[in-house]
Amino acid sequence: MCGIIGYIGKRKVIPLLLQGLKRMEYRGYDSSGIALIHDQKFQLYKQKGRIEELEKVLNGTAGDASVGIGHTRWATHGEPSVLNAHPHTSSNGKIALIHNGIIENYSELRKALAKKGYKFQSQTDTETLVHLIQEFYEGDLVNAVLRALRRLEGTYGIAVLHVDEPDRIVVARKGSPLVVGIGEGENFIASDLAAIVEYTRDVIFLEDGELGTVTTDNFHHFNLEESVIKRKVTHIDFNLDQIEKGGYKHFMLKEIMEQPQTLENTMRGRALDDIGEVRLGGLIRRLDELKDAERIMLLACGTSYHSGLVGEYMIEEWARIPVEVEYASEFRYRNPIIPPNTVAIAISQSGETADTLAALREAQARNALGLSIVNTVGSTIARESEGGIYLHAGHEIGVASTKAFTSQVTVLALFALLLAQQRDFPTDKIKEILGELRRIPSLVERILKKDREIFEIAKIFSRASNFLYLARGPNFPVALEGALKLKEISYIHAEGYPAAEMKHGPIALIDRMMPVVFIATRDKTYKKVIANIEEVRSRGGTIIAVVNEDDEEIMELSDYVIRIPSCHPMLMPILTAIPLQLLAYHIANLLGRDVDKPRNLAKSVTVE
Ligand code: M6R
Repeated sequence: MCGIIGYIGKRKVIPLLLQGLKRMEYRGYDSSGIALIHDQKFQLYKQKGRIEELEKVLNGTAGDASVGIGHTRWATHGEPSVLNAHPHTSSNGKIALIHNGIIENYSELRKALAKKGYKFQSQTDTETLVHLIQEFYEGDLVNAVLRALRRLEGTYGIAVLHVDEPDRIVVARKGSPLVVGIGEGENFIASDLAAIVEYTRDVIFLEDGELGTVTTDNFHHFNLEESVIKRKVTHIDFNLDQIEKGGYKHFMLKEIMEQPQTLENTMRGRALDDIGEVRLGGLIRRLDELKDAERIMLLACGTSYHSGLVGEYMIEEWARIPVEVEYASEFRYRNPIIPPNTVAIAISQSGETADTLAALREAQARNALGLSIVNTVGSTIARESEGGIYLHAGHEIGVASTKAFTSQVTVLALFALLLAQQRDFPTDKIKEILGELRRIPSLVERILKKDREIFEIAKIFSRASNFLYLARGPNFPVALEGALKLKEISYIHAEGYPAAEMKHGPIALIDRMMPVVFIATRDKTYKKVIANIEEVRSRGGTIIAVVNEDDEEIMELSDYVIRIPSCHPMLMPILTAIPLQLLAYHIANLLGRDVDKPRNLAKSVTVE
């Protein structure tokens, strides 16, 4: 995820910006850059890759500039490259801008600006904004920024400099955090407290729809309607490590908790529920092939494989195209048969998993159209695929994948609906499902409020040696995922099964020492799952059930219940995954495990 830092004061700004950028490295990025104003001119430095690359170019120069902005970019529009790195400058070279967030209407704006003669250097959405500000500039940067922002759709946290107004940085926020650090004779801006906390602990947080002008000794704060805002200064008293983790003890917990936002980002501009349409920009050039697709293969490992299994239910149900989900590691060595009109999709958070990459290449070599569903922009899988859908879930740091899973399932739902809409699936049904999808972030938020309740259940079971996870239908892959989450971070043995499969073997394991987690939300297999719960109960197993909020029936049959809201049954896996993530997290934490870096595991498995 991108990071913003800015400074105006008396210090030499280059070392300060570099240090601030390093403090935000934990968020993940693929390029960085800084812009300084000196002698009424910009000095601009940008590099692809790590901040050390930027430092190499600067070669130890501290310079004399004392106003500047810096950015770490996590690519969303356009690959990681020097040209796409921020800051971006206007056509006349007088304005520099850094931006976090996504400008949704950038392509219309870009076309309109290009017609007026603006020259674009990058593929980014951000560059549109800097030219738009130039278009509106009539000697007052704040006014130009205000006018430009009124034309924008999407999210932003921005910092803007103009060489003719070197005594100020203009900042604004909508949907992307921004904070102003207050110093004496100097002021700071950042998207992340970690970048500035070593210089000041007095800060003012911007809220959505707010702007400000930061000078050496003042912060003038107002909103888009130009009403002045007087907000109290907040004093920060927590440490850097806590700040990087957003106040959470572990990145994994932070990533679980940020899912309402990441899911919103995943579907932004794609799920048009008002008109019942899905738009996936990365597949535009592949729509004809998708229309002709007769078979879909989903290739993945680990958690990504589990999301593929959920995708299988969705695609077959809505688009009626046969789907095969394969462990990438098996697919690559088993001489697979790939008939014409097969679309192979590699699913990967990192985009670097060796087996998934090899499976994609294998499918392409056998004439399948190779697409991808990836989180990390510009990763190898994203580059080698012939089209794809990014998750936009932000950098995932915890080794145990959480927010990527729910975003993968969301993307697979959108993909399934895109295929369905090409195959005359009724628009009103698409509308209805998209409407349900749009509710998901707020439903996830409600589930996250159950954190304390889930912690109490975790306390009871943290000493168990084995766990069984059972579910049916589209929730069955979530049972697999719940078991994987628990075993990888707590080191407790756990198995996931389709609930009906239990009596073909695992039932032998059931006794009072065996906690069995059932996902038992209402769908067409609900009654069957109740029967499976009865089977476990009659053998003395302890039942923890994830149920719908209004369910009384299962309450009677279970030892512990976790109640969650309902939505469209096919989308329930996004919701049912959340309590299982929290359960695994709390158990591992209670056991004192190294939650973010569990033993023997790597975040990205780049070897076979
Ligand atoms: O980056 P990928 O999605 O390709 O990674 C695949 C698996 O290695 C990954 O999901 C792994 O299973 C995680 N540790 C699960 O939490």
